[in-house]
Amino acid sequence: MIQTTNLTRKYGDLVALDNLNLQIDEGECYGFIGPNGAGKTTTIKILATLLKPSWGEARVDGKVIGYQNAEIRPSIGYVPDFMGSYDDMVVREYLDFFATCYGLSGSQRHRAVGDVLELTELNYKANSQVAGLSRGMSQRLSIARVLLHDPKVLLLDEPASGLDPRARIEIRELLKELNRMGKTILISSHILHELAELCTSVGIIEQGKLLFSGKVSDILDKAKVGQVVHIEVTQQSKEAATLLRAVEGIRSVDVVTENNRERIDITIDSESAFDQSEIPNRLIAQGFRITSMQGEQINLETAFMRLTKGLIN
Ligand SMILES: Nc1ncnc2c1ncn2[C@@H]1O[C@H](COP(=O)(O)OP(=O)(O)OP(=O)(O)O)[C@@H](O)[C@H]1O
Ligand SMILES: [Mg+2]
Repeated sequence: MIQTTNLTRKYGDLVALDNLNLQIDEGECYGFIGPNGAGKTTTIKILATLLKPSWGEARVDGKVIGYQNAEIRPSIGYVPDFMGSYDDMVVREYLDFFATCYGLSGSQRHRAVGDVLELTELNYKANSQVAGLSRGMSQRLSIARVLLHDPKVLLLDEPASGLDPRARIEIRELLKELNRMGKTILISSHILHELAELCTSVGIIEQGKLLFSGKVSDILDKAKVGQVVHIEVTQQSKEAATLLRAVEGIRSVDVVTENNRERIDITIDSESAFDQSEIPNRLIAQGFRITSMQGEQINLETAFMRLTKGLIN
């Protein structure tokens, strides 16, 4: 659905995008992750037909950006990183205005506005001033706006930035719903874990280059972050640690004291087929008593840092 081939964009001498090759299939929710200045907005603006490539090619739904823009535009909904201000307009008027811009008329327009208000749960704000909306609500309104013409592809530039945790979750749920409805979504962020749960695939971009593209689980493997398990035993943590160190498939074992409590941190190689239940089995067989065992949420941030620092290739 979205494809770029050696997509390059320069601003003067600065190479903002450097031979970017993206492939996003229909129905995917693709997370586009990178630090500030990586080239996310530049890519999204090109895909939104607002910026021309300096070199290379970008296609949306098979059509070439820069040559078939008029045909591409009805298929895309673009939510920019900053929304303009629309003082003196209430939410329903705002949507009605954009629906008119998208060429919807009469009952068609009325229905479209009603549908998107419901989908984005903004019905109760239909008569509120746009300028007075909280950031979370105005982000939902931005999304509502680009849904009016029922596009196949949504391009969202950091829609969750500046939102509180609750509003982030609401946006995430809304995007999940839109993905379930069959929309192909490209969403950028500089926070990996924010996208991990939502996205089917992710791409990591830094200094205009794509460092990785694929499934989230593949990123973790590539960064060799491994899986961490915390375990507490009633006594003799050090002896228990020594026992575990000898187990094949366990990469490292550390005894850590936190808040006067000793625990054992175990890292398992992500590529090994090691079964975690082996850990309690081994300990119990040797007479150790376990008081708690907990798997740690795999650390995506660590994976991201390792990938963007060029620690791996
Ligand atoms: N209009 C412009 N003129 C000159 N340089 C630009 C322009 N827009 C972007 N750049 C530069 O291009 C590079 C990529 O910028 P871009 O905005 O695409 O990054 P980004 O990944 O969206 O960053 P952020 O996370 O800060 O939004 C940066 O070095 C930026 O300074
Ligand atoms: Mg940006």
